[in-house]
Amino acid sequence: MQETNTTSIKVGELDFPPRKVWMKTYGCQMNYHDSERIMSHLSGMNFTKTDDQQDADLVIFNTCAVRDLANQKFYSHLGETKHLKANVEINPETGLKKDVVIAAGGCIAQTEGKDLVAKYKTLDFAFGTDVIDNIGEMVYRAYAGERKFTVTSWDRSDNYSIETKITQGTPQAFVNIIKGCDKFCSYCIVPFTRGREKSRRLQEVVTDVKRLVEYSGVQEVTLLGQNVNSFGKDNEESLAQLIMALDDVNGLQRLRYTTSHPYDVSDELVQAHAHSKKLCNHLHLPVQSGSNTVLQRMLREYTVEHYLTLLEKMRKANPKMMITSDMIAGFPNETEEEHEATLDLIRKARFDNIFSYTYSSRKGTKAARMDDVLTDDIRGRRLREIMKLQLEVQAELRAEMVGKTYRVLVDGQSIGKGMQKGIKKWQGRTSCNRIVHFEPASEDQDFMWHWVDVDIHTSTALATQGNLVKDFGKTL
Ligand code: SAM
Ligand code: SF4
Ligand code: F3S
Repeated sequence: MQETNTTSIKVGELDFPPRKVWMKTYGCQMNYHDSERIMSHLSGMNFTKTDDQQDADLVIFNTCAVRDLANQKFYSHLGETKHLKANVEINPETGLKKDVVIAAGGCIAQTEGKDLVAKYKTLDFAFGTDVIDNIGEMVYRAYAGERKFTVTSWDRSDNYSIETKITQGTPQAFVNIIKGCDKFCSYCIVPFTRGREKSRRLQEVVTDVKRLVEYSGVQEVTLLGQNVNSFGKDNEESLAQLIMALDDVNGLQRLRYTTSHPYDVSDELVQAHAHSKKLCNHLHLPVQSGSNTVLQRMLREYTVEHYLTLLEKMRKANPKMMITSDMIAGFPNETEEEHEATLDLIRKARFDNIFSYTYSSRKGTKAARMDDVLTDDIRGRRLREIMKLQLEVQAELRAEMVGKTYRVLVDGQSIGKGMQKGIKKWQGRTSCNRIVHFEPASEDQDFMWHWVDVDIHTSTALATQGNLVKDFGKTL
């Protein structure tokens, strides 16, 4: 890649003038992280981001297939792009006709790429989850005049070796440590959209994190994967070893990881929570159901008893540990008794937060082939019961924060609602991953990415308010 002048870049045979990319991301943190990686490749081809789809030369949807709702949202957004192609405008900077390129990547594109390209006239190309590092090549093909192609191949090599690419320049970074999933839970599409598990090498991750801390000012790292506890299995390495190795990285303040599967939580990992100085007081450990018979049908490989014992061990290793989880309401043929068992688990586990969803049938999964007697109404009612009970538990747990001081990394501003209407507040996360709001003494103070201590005075199930007691600035 060679720069020919200040505005245009020569890539291969083509000139790439400055162009704008609009990108919409659906789904999980892994998808958001992939989008950042895509953006970083595109910035090397003279693209800058725009929030205005009308203004874009390149439109990318990074899709999610985990529930039908995610699919429907994407299909409808893609359908709405018709007008982008219909109103071909003259670009005032180049005098050329603006030729908008529209692409879809991610989990839906991985399994349905060819069909999408055939069905949606406006879609120029589709690309899967394992080829995002080839986005430059695909964009090149599109600007060379090629349209209606699909790239969904899997990387068949044994190695998974990458360097984390960040574009946002914030002290928080996500670092992929493992891709794919081998679990094949009976309801889940992810193993089909993300392929088999493959880990990076421990030393490569440590070098990567050191580089992010030293050269990009990163202070908080979240290790990412669909099942991070499987990290290193093929290389005789482990997540616990990685955590302990990262403990020695000077300048790294906080370390998180997500997502974990309860079956693979080892005693070594529990010990890492006891001994690591950097690991946060938070663990996201999706349980999905509180009924052993449902867990069996989900092919989750653990029992409720095993799960509760794990929570006990984790809380003993780190008494400040807050646990969050995922729940699915109305798995095929879930009985009222099985649903009650989930409510019972919510009472016992005392989760700090949960993400709960109604079951959504995914074509190709084992659960989709089960005869199912449940209706949407039953699923909806069960979900509401789960959410209501969780909010009660959550309000009690959050009330225990009042009167205590929490260290917070400020990551944004919010404007108060209700009684607090219009009041500008700063917000950030505690080590235990709770969002805390505080009001500055004066409106023009800028606390973005500051480390602060906040004394909590009010809490509800969803929000926590406090007074600023100490401002450390941007580094601790
Ligand atoms: N790997 C993680 C794990 O093992 O729990 C979670 C990955 S999945 C992308 C995130 C959450 O989506 C799951 O924990 C589950 O609660 C939910 N989910 C996955 N498939 C679903 C389905 N078919 N219907 C409803 N929720 C689903
Ligand atoms: Fe899906 Fe299960 Fe893999 Fe999580 S562990 S991504 S729920 S198959
Ligand atoms: Fe969705 Fe794919 Fe993530 S299905 S939840 S974007 S792994």
